[in-house]
Amino acid sequence: MSLIRRRFDALIIGAGGGGLRASLQLSRAEANVAVVSKVFPTRSHTVAAQGGVNAALANVLPDNWHWHMFDTVKGSDYLGDQDAIEYMCRVAPKLVYELEHYGVPFSRLDNGKIYQRAFGGQSQNFGEKQAARTCAAADRTGHAMLHALYQQNIRAKTHFFDEYFATDLIKNEEGAVLGAIVVSIQTGEAMLIEARTTLLATGGAGQIYRTNSNALINTGDGLGMVLRAGIPLQDMEFIQFHPTGIAGIGMLITEGCRGEGGYLVNGDGERFMERYAPNAKDLASRDVVSRSIYLEVKEGRGCGPNKDYVLLKLDHLGADTIMKRLPGIRQSCLTFLGIDPIETPIPVYPTAHYCMGGIPTNRKGEVVMPVKDTPEEPVPGLYAAGECACVSVHGGNRLGGNSLLDIIVFGRAAANEMIEHMKENRYRLPMNEASVEKAMDRLHRWDRKGEGETVDGLKEDLKKAMEDYCGVYRTQELLDKGVEEIGKIRDRLPNVYINDFSRTFNTARIEALELENLVEVAMCTVVSAAARQESRGAHSRVDFPKREDQQWMKHSLYFSEGDRMDYKPVRTKPLTVDSFPPKERVY
Ligand code: FUM
Repeated sequence: MSLIRRRFDALIIGAGGGGLRASLQLSRAEANVAVVSKVFPTRSHTVAAQGGVNAALANVLPDNWHWHMFDTVKGSDYLGDQDAIEYMCRVAPKLVYELEHYGVPFSRLDNGKIYQRAFGGQSQNFGEKQAARTCAAADRTGHAMLHALYQQNIRAKTHFFDEYFATDLIKNEEGAVLGAIVVSIQTGEAMLIEARTTLLATGGAGQIYRTNSNALINTGDGLGMVLRAGIPLQDMEFIQFHPTGIAGIGMLITEGCRGEGGYLVNGDGERFMERYAPNAKDLASRDVVSRSIYLEVKEGRGCGPNKDYVLLKLDHLGADTIMKRLPGIRQSCLTFLGIDPIETPIPVYPTAHYCMGGIPTNRKGEVVMPVKDTPEEPVPGLYAAGECACVSVHGGNRLGGNSLLDIIVFGRAAANEMIEHMKENRYRLPMNEASVEKAMDRLHRWDRKGEGETVDGLKEDLKKAMEDYCGVYRTQELLDKGVEEIGKIRDRLPNVYINDFSRTFNTARIEALELENLVEVAMCTVVSAAARQESRGAHSRVDFPKREDQQWMKHSLYFSEGDRMDYKPVRTKPLTVDSFPPKERVY
């Protein structure tokens, strides 16, 4: 059967906030833009972001972008690239006002200005006291942003391929990216989208863990595509565990709850964060709060019959605040727990939430990789933005509210760079048919039904292994065992058949393709974690409890060929201000 071929100026893979902010910029510049999304765009995972988007608007408390920058560098445990962080924090207010003009219904203060709440790791005057920097639309900020961006794209005439799944990038001999193979989930039909520029905005890979806050769609598809194209992934050992997932389920209970004045208590009724973070308490950064909860439970001070969670108290906030500021949280508790947080504390435990690592990019959104003796050179035609990318503005630990900011800042920056690239490279490069055939062969490997291992079975083993061997606290012994176990799971992939006929074949084949991506991302995460022998940000090594700046203040790069690691320097020099040198990180 001949392959359907379509041509566009720009191909955007993923329709979350990063993809849609980029496509809007491109469509408004009159580029011919295709957005490929495996779900209807407004179901992308951005829709689940609750608490808000950071920008130093100073609507509630004094603030400025330089304090935001300091907090982000400190929060990253000094692994973030300070040029990219300065760029993001400086441009944040402008881009939040832009969202307001796109129609995002932000909550309001009595004076009509955008409502801002306190979030973890935020400070006034370089660490002095708590700031309130997170602009919120109640507790549905991502939902509001995604819908506004989608509507603006419709108006700008962006072309959407809804429920199409991207399988592989197409590259020429010189390494330039020429587009991708995508598959219609409904019909199973493959299509080659040729594009002068391609942006990956495929989000994270939280589904490598059993307990996570992520949508089922977060299977690291862009990360898998990049690894298969011979490009490394950066800093993949840094996985954020959000402190407050619903215990046993993992579903997100926004940090905004603590921003509104909620706090955590252990089984003795003690407000334990006062011991771990005497100043910031419940609003210390996420890695600190997650480790504290883990230790309370481990030391026998958990709540419930099995003492395996802590409680998040909101009942003292009053019904009015909860209904006005946290209506979605109340609804989730009523629906999934049968409790009303107006009266009853919420059982919570850390849940896998966010990948700080990803596809290495510079602050213009270009994908970069080491070439010969250079630490990085752009991959022609390829860009990445959002959670799948590693700019790196989050370093070892992301601050809450900085991910919605990251997607709008770097979605827009990447689109601007794509526009420049297309001005300078006016002609389409010839298609590489060998690369197309290779991608099609991989796809057709799954055109088989039969008896063998199931996709679900292997996926469950993978998620359990990641939870057992690569969780909140890590040791060499656990991580080495993790590498071995994930290796065995990877070896079992060829025995997997699509044999669950309760689903349609096309859907089942997509799940098999997702599984391949999950396995690659899990391997990359555990190998990178086993290699980093220090504790930094969310990577907590019991056997190497200190941060070792002399040896480890560097970004890791994992290449799938031979599970090889390499490293590159952190960009410690900001654009216009002085560097923030590494210090002990206390809250
Ligand atoms: O807690 C939250 O609302 C999550 C926000 C974030 O991850 O930035």
